[in-house]
Amino acid sequence: MGALSGKIAVVTGGNSGIGLSAAKIFAAEGAQVVITGRRRQAVEEAIAQIGAGALGIQGNVADVAHHDEVAQQILQRFGALDIYMANAGINTITHSADVSEAEYDAQFAVNTRGVFFGVQKLIPIMRNGGAIILTGSLASEKVLDGHAVYAGSKAAINAFARAWAIELKSRGIRVNVLSPGPVDTAILDKLGIPFEQRGLFEKAMAEAIPLGRMGQPEELAKAALFLASDASSFVTGINLRVDGGMAVL
Ligand SMILES: NC(=O)c1ccc[n+]([C@@H]2O[C@H](COP(=O)([O-])OP(=O)(O)OC[C@H]3O[C@@H](n4cnc5c(N)ncnc54)[C@H](OP(=O)(O)O)[C@@H]3O)[C@@H](O)[C@H]2O)c1
Repeated sequence: MGALSGKIAVVTGGNSGIGLSAAKIFAAEGAQVVITGRRRQAVEEAIAQIGAGALGIQGNVADVAHHDEVAQQILQRFGALDIYMANAGINTITHSADVSEAEYDAQFAVNTRGVFFGVQKLIPIMRNGGAIILTGSLASEKVLDGHAVYAGSKAAINAFARAWAIELKSRGIRVNVLSPGPVDTAILDKLGIPFEQRGLFEKAMAEAIPLGRMGQPEELAKAALFLASDASSFVTGINLRVDGGMAVL
């Protein structure tokens, strides 16, 4: 029997990177997995990779009505939810002086508003004893060049998690943040780093990480499994850094 047998799990941004790895490990541990993502085709390809009857719902986490639809579909198909991993996120690197209103709004719409309303809409169908995992970022605690807006958008969810850990304690719902350091996913292609500088960027990142390399999405997925399962039954309100020790330096 798997660690998540009989559980219903939703992973937002489950068609790529950390979310896809988490969805795979949740399914392998017996959960019925539902992923969401913005790109329909990528969602369909991910479902095929996850297998185990995984379902996909295409939508934009910045759109509150999307979360209503996810809640409705889970309720109709499965009756309730046990695990919610609010993982979808975007990041662009820009110095504060150059940040446009559109860039600011886009990051807060996905990383902050998307997480807040996703949890608000899914909580009513979550079973008591459930687990909520918010994918944060090391950037919310450690200053990284050009990351001010992204860091702010992720710092807010650290505060949400602490508030929700208390608001939901009477239902035994645990709420924790999983904070990755640099991880080798498609997000690196979306940072806006010129192609010719990509090698230098990755080298600088690896040198700044005590374990000497970037993380792999599977390493974050294993930590997500810990937070989703009974292995963390006495853990709520924490920020679990999975960053190769980068926060320490
Ligand atoms: N990789 C890192 O170094 C790193 C470090 C710290 C924190 N994180 C955080 O980890 C999480 C996962 O990132 P990743 O590295 O796995 O990156 P990724 O491979 O780019 O995955 C991001 C996921 O979020 C989805 N997404 C983005 N905007 C969305 C929207 N508006 N509506 C619905 N889905 C949306 C993407 O869907 P589409 O592909 O369809 O757009 C994709 O599935 C993010 O919250 C990110 O901020 C990553």
